[in-house]
Amino acid sequence: MTAEVINGKELAAEIKAEMKAEVSRLREQGLIPHLTVVLVGDDPASKSYINGKKKASGEIGISSQIIELPSSTTEKELLELIDRLNHDRDVHGILVQLPLPEHIQEQSIIEAIDPAKDVDGFHPINVGRMMTGKDSFLSCTPYGIITMLKSRDIQIAGKHAVVIGRSNIVGKPVGQLLLNENATVTYCHSKTADLKHHTQQADILVVAVGRANAIDADYLKGGAVVVDVGINRLADGSLTGDVDFDSAKEKAAYITPVPKGVGPMTITMLLKNTIKAAIGLADH
Ligand code: GUN
Repeated sequence: MTAEVINGKELAAEIKAEMKAEVSRLREQGLIPHLTVVLVGDDPASKSYINGKKKASGEIGISSQIIELPSSTTEKELLELIDRLNHDRDVHGILVQLPLPEHIQEQSIIEAIDPAKDVDGFHPINVGRMMTGKDSFLSCTPYGIITMLKSRDIQIAGKHAVVIGRSNIVGKPVGQLLLNENATVTYCHSKTADLKHHTQQADILVVAVGRANAIDADYLKGGAVVVDVGINRLADGSLTGDVDFDSAKEKAAYITPVPKGVGPMTITMLLKNTIKAAIGLADH
């Protein structure tokens, strides 16, 4: 079997075209969705991610602003900025790029953002609403993954989904979203005994390990759906995922590539959340 490749870049382009039309309607009504992105420090990977977010916003008519602060910024200063953005009626979405410098408590910052402007979906209110199946901002990578599966009408209900990774940003919420869609969910992580035993039973395997080629065909059940969340930069500068794509695609039914897989979907879902925030705040 050779897997069907789910191209996240193409799907993202389709969704962005729809959102562009929606933003243009909102603008005609005088509502200009606005996203403010805050970067503390000068991590090159973070800079590249936030520039991607700004570019994608501009493409569909969302206004955006990047606030860059030095790594010496104190937690108090950052909290003051967030307070100001929370009260700024023209700012609909607030995203503080992670990771933050070590002297700043990430959780304090996440909890300071108004949940109605939390387009990352990281605030405990949004996490809790997601867990209880209520309307909420969904964190962007998990939301993008579910959207990719649904775009191909891949059945989730009743399937065994195995998630490798338990981060608050990806692993935990994607498992929860799969559970909300009635999958049977297994979480694996660095302490899991006999990882392969679990992955070989996966109808849907989500890989967020953070190591190039950590998973190859040997780890898969034939006909599995493989979602690769990894972004690893190799010595030659090229990007690769956590899955050995060439071997896995001979055994899987569907697979997401890297690049042009989950990555472009993550940014697209951020834009979707920003539009949702703008409409929600305009209604109040
Ligand atoms: N760092 C890596 N991924 C993300 C993300 O989705 N949101 C934020 N705020 N920071 C990140």
